[in-house]
Amino acid sequence: MTKFSKIALCAMVIGASTFFVSCNDDDDNTMAAPSLYQKLGGTTMVADPNNPGQMIEQGRLSYRSVVDSTITLIVTDIVVGANGNLGAHFAPIVGEVSSGNTTNVAVLSKNLTDFFSANTGGGATNTYSGINMIDAHNPATNPRMGTKSNNANYDKFIGYVGAAAGLNGVTDPVIIGDVVTVLESLRTQIVQAP
Ligand code: HEM
Repeated sequence: MTKFSKIALCAMVIGASTFFVSCNDDDDNTMAAPSLYQKLGGTTMVADPNNPGQMIEQGRLSYRSVVDSTITLIVTDIVVGANGNLGAHFAPIVGEVSSGNTTNVAVLSKNLTDFFSANTGGGATNTYSGINMIDAHNPATNPRMGTKSNNANYDKFIGYVGAAAGLNGVTDPVIIGDVVTVLESLRTQIVQAP
């Protein structure tokens, strides 16, 4: 395959909002496009700030940091009442966190980190074992989803992810563009209310 056709193929894949945003070059070494996971630090091992003495891949740490900040922003905003329109969706989780139970929020953090890492080039060290995006966001199949979300909820959620990225030093417009592409590719599965 020529370089041009590989670039065109990558552009088509991203343009079609396919979830996977990396394209591998397997017959020469001149243009292997880095995956989003690689752009976020890849498999370089670094000290895990949350678990002293343990190491973690930088790509996974980047995702986990942004995921945790996103969760904190959503929960805080709901608790202080500034953006109560997400409150109904996250009611089960907010109730738990408000009463000091962070067990399930830790599971959510892990599942979200696994999900993003595994689907953006994180490889075999990052395996997602949660439920699929349609079932996860339907209260009938996931009682932890308070109510179905609509497009406005989704826009607000993306805004929180963007703010969380900034809080964690992820500001490169190319990377932010890739993240938005990934999030937008999931909209039709997650948005289930008019
Ligand atoms: C931006 C794209 C989004 C992604 C990639 C995403 C991904 C996920 C994942 C991976 C889970 C965990 C599923 C499991 O544990 O098996 C989850 C759960 C959930 N999501 Fe989303 N989500 C997104 C947007 C939203 C939006 C817009 C809302 C609501 C407005 C929402 C509300 C929830 C709730 C309430 C849960 C259950 C939390 C829990 O189990 O404690 N998500 N989501």
